[in-house]
Amino acid sequence: MADNSSLAIAKSGKKDEFYTQYADIEAEMNAYVEYNPDVFRDKTILLPCDDPEWSNFTKYFACNFERFGIKKLISTSYARGAGNKQLTLFEENSPLYDAKKHDTHGKLFTLTHDANGSGNIDTDDIEFLGYLEGDGDFRSEEVCKLRDEADIIITNPPFSQFGDFLAWIMEAKKSFIIISNQNAISLKDVFPLFKNNEIWLGQGFKGNVGYFIAPEYEDYAIAGQHKEGFIRVSGVMWVTNIDLGKRHEILQLDTMAHNLKYNKKLRKKLEEAGVPLEYPKYVNYDAIDVPFTECIPSDYDSLMGVPISFMYKYNPDQFEIVGISLEVAEPMKNVAKKGTFLQGGNRFYTTLLTASDRQNGYLYHREYDRILIRPKKGGNS
Ligand SMILES: C[S@@+](CC[C@H](N)C(=O)[O-])C[C@H]1O[C@@H](n2cnc3c(N)ncnc32)[C@H](O)[C@@H]1O
Repeated sequence: MADNSSLAIAKSGKKDEFYTQYADIEAEMNAYVEYNPDVFRDKTILLPCDDPEWSNFTKYFACNFERFGIKKLISTSYARGAGNKQLTLFEENSPLYDAKKHDTHGKLFTLTHDANGSGNIDTDDIEFLGYLEGDGDFRSEEVCKLRDEADIIITNPPFSQFGDFLAWIMEAKKSFIIISNQNAISLKDVFPLFKNNEIWLGQGFKGNVGYFIAPEYEDYAIAGQHKEGFIRVSGVMWVTNIDLGKRHEILQLDTMAHNLKYNKKLRKKLEEAGVPLEYPKYVNYDAIDVPFTECIPSDYDSLMGVPISFMYKYNPDQFEIVGISLEVAEPMKNVAKKGTFLQGGNRFYTTLLTASDRQNGYLYHREYDRILIRPKKGGNS
């Protein structure tokens, strides 16, 4: 899928069936281990949407079990996932295999020691402990028990249930590293967690685009971006509450005057709207609009609205998150000339009219969702 990838696209169950590449998991985990080499030491890690037959999360942590000093790896498989219809090698070779339970019951796997006595611990030491009572839904009592036993929860969960999945982790006060889509940041129950620095973005995917393994999935990516057997998901991100170096990098910024003189994107936007070359103020909120994160001015110390993608660069020592337009902006009523369609919604408006705004008779331009931020004293230096 190309730029139309979103939580909405993942709304149907089938859309949740795509799998994370080993290299993407490795790149992300490296960031935490680099920051704290003991981050996984003596920890019980739960992978709650992961059948070891095809989950690279299970493979990655099994391969690094000894190096990281992990105490226990628990991996559960959800019976209703598309892939789970197949008979896996883990079951086939196990005396616990039960054809009657195969399609309807989740599966439980653990890794704790060198089970086959080979001299090292790896994927061959993963043990199939049998079937769960239910289908392996993360909300079930038995998977909640496994969650409670774990120190860290790591996975790519079903995108369509991201809000519930995150709430499930937060209610148990667990550490976690999970994948989601950028659209999740502005969800009503998710944004406050970002705002209060209870959760943040991880290292991330290159260009915030991920390629996920999905041989039977229709990929809408344009020819130049298509990779056979994969779906392309834009705006994809890692979300976590475990610290990492990126979170402490200072975003390098230029002054307002510098940006207004040299930033081509900013100038183009202002010139096209035919407004003075200055940062626009919102019509319905007392803050300036910063349409591109790179244009956040280093010499402005009050409220600014920035794109949601700012979160990829957010350093809590540099900025304070004050709110989100969806919460603080009052819907505007008279944004169009009489007789034309009225735009609504809790959004910020500016006078940066586009050609389409003019065609529609709009008096103001409705900006995309914005995060309201304020620099911290001394944070930009
Ligand atoms: C995006 S896929 C990722 C799978 C795997 N974690 C990976 O990254 O390769 C999400 C998985 O969650 C499973 N799933 C869907 N609903 C679930 C639920 N309620 N409880 C547990 N797993 C679920 C799906 O079957 C699917 O395999």
